[in-house]
Amino acid sequence: MKLNDLLEKNIVRLAPMAGVSNAPFRTICLDNGSGFVTTEEIDSISLVYNKSERTRLITAFSEYENPIAMQLLGCDSESLTESSKILQDLGASIIDINMGCPVPKITKKGKGAALMKDITQTAKLIKSIRNITKIPLTVKIRSGWDENNINAVEFSKMLESEGVDGITVHPRSRAQRYEGNSKWSIIKEVVDSIKIPVTGNGDVKSYDDAKRMIEFTKCKSVMIGRGAIGNPWVFNKSLEELSYEEKELFKKKTIINHLRQIKNYFPKKNLDIQIKKNLSYYAKGFYNSRELRQKIFRSSDPIENVIELFFKLFDRNVEKNKLEKISV
Ligand SMILES: Cc1cc2nc3c(=O)[nH]c(=O)nc-3n(C[C@H](O)[C@H](O)[C@H](O)COP(=O)(O)O)c2cc1C
Repeated sequence: MKLNDLLEKNIVRLAPMAGVSNAPFRTICLDNGSGFVTTEEIDSISLVYNKSERTRLITAFSEYENPIAMQLLGCDSESLTESSKILQDLGASIIDINMGCPVPKITKKGKGAALMKDITQTAKLIKSIRNITKIPLTVKIRSGWDENNINAVEFSKMLESEGVDGITVHPRSRAQRYEGNSKWSIIKEVVDSIKIPVTGNGDVKSYDDAKRMIEFTKCKSVMIGRGAIGNPWVFNKSLEELSYEEKELFKKKTIINHLRQIKNYFPKKNLDIQIKKNLSYYAKGFYNSRELRQKIFRSSDPIENVIELFFKLFDRNVEKNKLEKISV
């Protein structure tokens, strides 16, 4: 299938996030209307040479996740081409290459955003991946290495000329990491300078933000990252039509379903930590949320008791909000 057809489905979709965009969360976001999902980054060397339990887990996806983009993190042609083949054989619909990760332990090895530093070298790398990849190939980039080296436009032109099918732009530099605001004007500059579809990303917290980003930049679609954590219904347009009670009931059912997905996916040894982590994300907007999230996270009670506590707090929060609405 062509990338443009895959992008038509929905203007917003879940961003790849290590430790977050795993199969259970991707499933919940799809249930809520996200466009096609992307796996968290998969290290190309680990995938080719080290068939660990973790690699098996992060490359696993269900039939429901169709189409699926699978993201690779790497910097050498040998492991990136070999791992692209492996992912293609596993059933990936799109191969996405991470050229935006700002984490020093990654960039020190020449991976992630470090690939934006040397356009000529990265062009050779992309050529080798393009040669063996039959499915759509996309790349996720930042605005550049640092404020003195903003090269998203030049870099995107190179990617287009090497046959990449689409680009996602998170318009912060590697040096900015997640600080400051993302500069949507850079997404617009990229859109104006290439013909392949551009996905905009950065600081989108709602469907309306996504529409604003598209209007301003003319990008084809939008990825939401942090705005979806503990908030997978950000993709769900129909929620607006529900009453407060209906909305909260919907959220409760979604969380229960997410927990079910987590229990089916993670090995027993990771279960408790995954459940606590996600419940504390969902408790983000609760009254006294800081305290409650710590309570959930640090609890040494059996996990079923922690889940029970969470839903008690959930119900209490709904009641408090209702009372507040009445008194206004
Ligand atoms: C916890 C976390 C993990 C991330 N992991 C990845 C990753 O594996 N691959 C990637 O391309 N970007 C990753 N990102 C970056 C996001 O995909 C996204 O570009 C960034 O968060 C900006 O979008 P947002 O403002 O919607 O969050 C990660 C971000 C966060 C917060």
